[in-house]
Order: sequence, then C-alpha cells, then structure tokens
Amino acid sequence: MRKPIIAGNWKMNNTIAEGMKLVNGLTSLVKGIKDTEIVICPPATALAVVTTALHGKNIAVGAQNVHWEESGAYTGEIAPAMLAELGVKYAIIGHSERRQYFGETDETVNKRARAAHRAGITPIICVGEPLETREKGTYKRYVSRQVRLALADRKPQCVAKFVIAYEPIWAIGTGKTATFEQAQEVCEHIRKTIAKLYDKKTADSVRILYGGSVKPETIKGLMEKPDVDGALVGGAALKAKDFSEIVKFNR
Ligand code: G3P
Repeated sequence: MRKPIIAGNWKMNNTIAEGMKLVNGLTSLVKGIKDTEIVICPPATALAVVTTALHGKNIAVGAQNVHWEESGAYTGEIAPAMLAELGVKYAIIGHSERRQYFGETDETVNKRARAAHRAGITPIICVGEPLETREKGTYKRYVSRQVRLALADRKPQCVAKFVIAYEPIWAIGTGKTATFEQAQEVCEHIRKTIAKLYDKKTADSVRILYGGSVKPETIKGLMEKPDVDGALVGGAALKAKDFSEIVKFNR
C-alpha cells in the first residue's frame, strides 16, 4: 500500500513573512494527520526558517530545485548537501517551468534526481506533455520517454523511493484539471513504463502524483484512481484552507 503524498509547490511566491503566515495557518488545519505525507515547497529563501518552524510537525519541506554537483562554479544553484543540512526532505526536479524557462533537460533531470537521492532527499520528478502533444494523441509515448530518461542508469532500490509527478502542461495554472480518467490513464502508463524498465515490485513502490489545477473539489475524484498516489499542487497550495482541504481528501 503506497502512502499518499500531497505536496504544495509555492513556486516564486511568498516572502519569509508571508510564508510563515501560510505555514502557521496550515499547521493547525492539518494537525494530527499521519496517514498522508504533507509536503510544502517554498522558495529557497524561506527554506531555513520554514524547516526550523516545522521541526517535529507532520509537514515536511521540499526544495523547488537542486543541483547535481556538491559545490563549484554554478552561480545561483544550490547543492544537495546544502538542502539536507536544513532538513529539506524532498526536491521538485524537472518542473515544466524549469524545462521551459531555464534549460532543464531530461539529462539534467536525471543528474539532479541522482544527486538528491544520494543526499537523502526524495526527488519529485515532474513529467508531462504540452497541449499539442495531447491533441496529437502521442502523450503516452512523450511521457514514457521522459520517465525512461529521468530514471536511466538508476538502480531499482533507488527508483522505488522516487516520486513521479505527472503534470500535463496544458493543465498547469489554467484552471483546467485533467479528467480523473486522463490522470489515471497516464499515471498507469507511467507505472507500466517503470515495470518494463525494472520490475512490477519497483513500479508498485513508486508514488505517482497528479499535478495541474488540483483543487479541493477535484482531489477526491483523483485519489479514487488506483494509480494516483497524491497531488502536486500549485495555486491552491498558497491558501491554507484550500491546501488543507486537499490534504484531507479522505476525510
Ligand atoms: O507543480 C505544481 C504546479 O505546476 C501545478 O500548478 O496552479 O495548476 O495547481 P497549479
């Protein structure tokens, strides 16, 4: 049985003061929830303060990116050990916005995921097709290629601990959530891709999230799908009430 994960990607939002207001509102709303992993991913500037504030609480902290080298001339980047030192437990890797605006490639996604895992940080690897690929009907091939390249050369025991987030680009920030059947179809395809690359046991261990305009109104239907193990939430994660309602999908 895979433990569900509800992760909030704050993207480039919230100063430390704004972030702490959101965290303080959220902690009381999700107090006592242990059957779902709750993760929030603030901007890098807030990571130290937020991880300190959440120490011992039932909310883990993730970064929105991580470099693959331990140190060096990589201006603006953050090394895995620097995040681990703060108590960061997850890292979003390969988000479509990083692929679109910051030159992220399948190869760098693979390197970042490997380095994160080595530092004890769970990668949340983002995959998902653009609208034209969905309309062409080649989205399954597109996504399985991303998965194959992200996991290339990784050992099964590492992959089993990875998290994959299926985020169709056409559903991100648009208010247009994929249908529950569309989400299930691709999450199942991702699991089958991993089973082919490794084995069924490894594939059944990987948590596969859906992301793309997830709201309190849609989370229950998504979570009822067998291959959807959680959500990667953007806009709705910026409101404590909405994010807490998504976390409480099974209540
Ligand atoms: O990483 C999650 C994000 O891309 C989804 O954003 O606003 O569509 O929930 P949103």
